[in-house]
Amino acid sequence: MAKVRKAVIPAAGMGTRFLPATKAIAKELLPIVNKPSIQLIVEEAAASGIEEVIVITGRGKTEIVDHFDAHPQLEETLRRAGKEALLREVVRPSQMVKMATVRQQRPLGLGHAILCARHLIGNEPFAVFLPDDLVDAQKPCARQLIDVYEATGRSVVALMNVPREETSAYGIAAGAVDVRDPRLVNISAMVEKPAVVDAPSTQAIVGRYVLDPCVFDYLSRTNPGRGDEIQLTDALAAMIVERGLYGYLFEGNRFDAGDVTGYLLANLNWARRTPRIWAAIEQYVAAHAGGVPR
Ligand code: UTP
Repeated sequence: MAKVRKAVIPAAGMGTRFLPATKAIAKELLPIVNKPSIQLIVEEAAASGIEEVIVITGRGKTEIVDHFDAHPQLEETLRRAGKEALLREVVRPSQMVKMATVRQQRPLGLGHAILCARHLIGNEPFAVFLPDDLVDAQKPCARQLIDVYEATGRSVVALMNVPREETSAYGIAAGAVDVRDPRLVNISAMVEKPAVVDAPSTQAIVGRYVLDPCVFDYLSRTNPGRGDEIQLTDALAAMIVERGLYGYLFEGNRFDAGDVTGYLLANLNWARRTPRIWAAIEQYVAAHAGGVPR
């Protein structure tokens, strides 16, 4: 089975849920504690064995590329000042993976954004990371999916169970659990943001995929759908019928960093790793518990 070495990070969306913060700043650069959120994504990719990342960018997103580039002047300043720990943090993003970017000229949808990477992916399986979805897991979420792909040769999407009343906010998968693994779901259909009463399950699709390169053929035949955009979900729905698709109920906690509340919760989650910061937060919460700020 071909190894999964490449990944696509579609980051050309406009981030309307985070306005006005995202008027002039790419939402992927908003920090989780002291790292841009997209760095957590690239760290997950590298820890999953990904060697090459293709970021799909659009207008106003060029600074994402700067973050993953070397900065000789800053590095020299830190070196001269003997700030070795900071120097390592500044250098690290440029050394994690090989990175390329493709500009999506018009925001024609997630499916179209992925199609823009076709010439750089070629005929290899690849992972897709939606940068809004941050997953804190012992074994990286993408690695969990890659293991499924490399064992079965079938494309796979990440799934998580959500409360039934929240199903209308997600793409929901219908399917039967595989006899070999209770986390593996043989997907028979996907419904985008169903009314709660129509949701075929409570298994929501999360922004990690490992896809066979045949998905490009399905994407190139997909007409614009909801919102007049080329939807990845529509291409996958066609693929289910002819090639099959697995879902994998991954282990880990997912945060929607594209939403203000999810973003703040992600910050709290990652802040717990720095005792000094976490102690200050605990102190603040204890002093204000139950109180509404004036
Ligand atoms: P969303 O539909 O969540 O859009 O895109 P968005 O602009 O990121 O965020 P909101 O909802 O307006 O706040 C899902 C993913 O697909 C990418 C986005 O960058 C995001 O990672 N995308 C979407 C593109 O790269 N190009 C597109 O044309 C559309």
